[in-house]
Amino acid sequence: MGILIKSPFHSNNMETDPTVYGLRPTIIYDAVRELFNDKSILITGTRGIGKSSLSFQLQRILNGEKNVLVRCGIEVDNTRMFCKG
Ligand SMILES: Nc1ncnc2c1ncn2[C@@H]1O[C@H](COP(=O)(O)OP(=O)(O)OP(=O)(O)O)[C@@H](O)[C@H]1O
Ligand SMILES: [Mg+2]
Repeated sequence: MGILIKSPFHSNNMETDPTVYGLRPTIIYDAVRELFNDKSILITGTRGIGKSSLSFQLQRILNGEKNVLVRCGIEVDNTRMFCKG
């Protein structure tokens, strides 16, 4: 008859897997920069655009998960800080 394979896409669940999360490098870079600096961000968008999935991935990144950052080519340097000259 044919071969049945499982789709990697979810129809109605957040994407919680950092290894397959579809990258939004610019949004992730901006959001992580603000959150690492103890600022707040507001995530808005149309129904199903990916707000909850993005929030979930950001929460994991803030807790030390590196996968999405590495895949986006974003490096976090905790050894340096901006300082007033
Ligand atoms: N970056 C992504 N990579 C892969 N799949 C994604 C990504 N973002 C969202 N999805 C998929 O798109 C669908 C909608 O995502 P999500 O629930 O995060 O959207 P939402 O904006 O929070 O929706 P709602 O407005 O209904 O709350 C889900 O099936 C989710 O798995
Ligand atoms: Mg949602």
